[in-house]
This record gives sequence, structure tokens and C-alpha cells, in this order.
Amino acid sequence: MSKPKHPGFATRAIHDGQEPDLSTGAVSVPIYATSTYVQDELGKHRGYEYARVSNPTRDRLEKNLASLEGGVASRVFASGMAAINAICAMFKSGDHIVCGNDLYGGVPRLFNQVLSGYGFEFTFVDTSEARNVERAIGKKTRMVYVETPTNPLMSLSDIKAIAEITRRKKIELVVDNTFMSPYFQQPIALGADMVVHSTTKFLNGHSDGLGGVVVCTRQEQAEQLGFVQKAAGAILSPFECWLVLRGTKTLAVRMLQHDCNGRTVAEFLAGHKKVKKVFYPGLKGHPQHELARRQMTGFGSMITFETGSLANAARILKRVRVCTLAESLGGVETLISHPATMTHAALGEKGRKAIGLTDGMVRISVGIEDVDDVLADLDQALA
Ligand SMILES: Cc1ncc(COP(=O)(O)O)c(C=O)c1O
Repeated sequence: MSKPKHPGFATRAIHDGQEPDLSTGAVSVPIYATSTYVQDELGKHRGYEYARVSNPTRDRLEKNLASLEGGVASRVFASGMAAINAICAMFKSGDHIVCGNDLYGGVPRLFNQVLSGYGFEFTFVDTSEARNVERAIGKKTRMVYVETPTNPLMSLSDIKAIAEITRRKKIELVVDNTFMSPYFQQPIALGADMVVHSTTKFLNGHSDGLGGVVVCTRQEQAEQLGFVQKAAGAILSPFECWLVLRGTKTLAVRMLQHDCNGRTVAEFLAGHKKVKKVFYPGLKGHPQHELARRQMTGFGSMITFETGSLANAARILKRVRVCTLAESLGGVETLISHPATMTHAALGEKGRKAIGLTDGMVRISVGIEDVDDVLADLDQALA
């Protein structure tokens, strides 16, 4: 039987880069736990010399993730932050970057407290209005960096509209697709030049390994990032590559269940008298619900809700039993967190106030447990 000409997402997730091992027939990609490779004679090797530069398990994951995002290649790094840092290493001192003002807290920390010391310049704008991006672009701008939906306010940016601007201005558009995963959002098809993920989240999916990836649309980007891997060394270990390869095999089914549970929990919270406001793009009342329907093929399982005060938030977080109080997201278990003191503490009170992130906000990454158990847990915690 011949292979399908245009295999679907779930088929590519299970087969692209995940082909059986040529030498043994092992169906699961082997973990090449080696730091170096034998050379047959001086200058003659089998394509691999040293594991910081390349590793067969890593090659397989890079192929798999490039296929899922519709890119030409990808490069994986030790964490999402290492991947974002590697993108910035493609630019030079004096370059200007326009980025969202409501990003995962670690990103402004990297930009403001590390990279600005190397002469990079950043302008933070509300990217939910494409015209704000256009206005912030100057002669030195090299990249627009967007996270959509944002963490934790669940605000969306119109990737297609921003891509039209960046294309016209001949600068790179990079989209962090961590919250939606390639299953629900395809930024490259909408015009992005590179896509970044914390693979720690939905791509791995089991909360058991850190990682990051940059998916490229041009070979030269992959070459530059490959050089950053080799020169700076923040590569993903073969074991963690394998964990992500195992994770993506079930990405499609997990995302469907995350989305189904996410919608149910969002509706429940929206109807609960103790909840002041729910931030979830799948709700009709979300200000960008129409954009969400156009740009994404699902709404996912990331929800933020307003409890009214730090004391209310703390009380709920102390009472949960099925939901796990922890940073991070995208695992099979429901994780619940307090952005102001956890993921976004580094922004400072002023920074949080500027984007409307309050002390009463609670964020949930709805897992794939029986949703009735998650609802019952939230109900008793809110009572
Ligand atoms: C949207 C988003 N991007 C990037 C990161 C950074 O990823 P990592 O924790 O793997 O370094 C995170 C981490 O929470 C995130 O939520």
C-alpha cells in the first residue's frame, strides 16, 4: 500500500521523524546517549562528530516538530527560554525588537534584565491591535515578537494582520505558539517567519521535561540557529528529545480532550457567582472571540479567572484537591496557579498593573482528567 500523499496532522505526529530505526527496526526512536562518535579515519565520519553539534534523536525531533508547524526545519533547545534567547542571538547589538506587553513573565525578564545589557532595544506594545505594532516599528527594528493567546490574560493578536505589516517592512515575525500547540494554531500558514514553543508544555504534555523549539520557514534561519546550538550549547538532551517525541504521538487526542474539558470548565466558571470574570477565547463574551474562531481551530484549555482579591485567590488555591497548585501548563493533569506571585512575579507590581494583571487572578491549565471531577473540585474550592 502506498503512503498517503498529504498525511493529516495526527499521522505526521506519529510518523514524521518517528520512522523505525534503520539499523535495528526499533519502532520507537532510539535514545542516542552518546557525547561523541567514532571517526573511521581523519576527516571521515558518518555525519555525526560531537553531541552538542548533532545527535540522531535530536534530528528526529527537529524533523517531527518542523512537520507539525509546517516549517522547513526546526532547532530544539534546553528550555523555552533558551529557544527565545537563541532567536535573539540571531540579531546584534543596536537591533530593535517590538514585542507584546503581556508575555510570559520570563520573556520580559530576559529582554529587560539580560539582553538590554547587550545593546538590544525593546518596545512593548499591546499587539492585540496590529496598528500598535506598525507604529512601534522603526529603522532599527528587526523582529516583532508575539505571543497569542497571551499568558495569562488570554488576549489574542491577529497573526495574519501583523504578518502583512512585517512582510511589508521586511522584518521577522516570531510567534510563541505554546498555548495553542500546532494542533489548534498554525502561525506559519498565517504568515509568521518563525514559531517558538516551550515544549515543556503541550508538546511534551506530561510535565516531565523542559525544552524549547524554534521552527523555521527558511533554511538560512535553521543554519543560523544550528550555529547557535553549536556555539552556545543550550541544546536539548537526547532523553528529553525522546520524551517530546513520545508526547507528540498523542498530541492530537490530548488537545481534543484539553479543548473539550477547557470549554466545560470555562462555562462553569463563567456561570459561578463567586467568579467575577473569565478570560477564555472560547466564550462568546471574549472581546476577540471572532478572531479566535478565525485564527484557531479550537480554544484550548488555558483559562484565567478573577476572584476579586489576593485573599480569595489564596483561599481557592489552598482548597483544591484534584487541581494541582503549580507553575507550568499543558500537562495531562490540571495545574492551577497564581500569576501575580508565580509566573509573573518578575514583572513587578507596576508592570502587572500596566497590563491589567491583578492579585485576584487565578490561571488554570485544564488537564484531561474526568471533567466532572475537576468541576467538583473547583466548586468546593470556590464555596
Ligand atoms: C508561553 C510561554 N512561552 C515560553 C515559556 C518559557 O518556557 P520554559 O519554561 O520551557 O523555559 C513559557 C513558560 O511558562 C510560556 O508559558
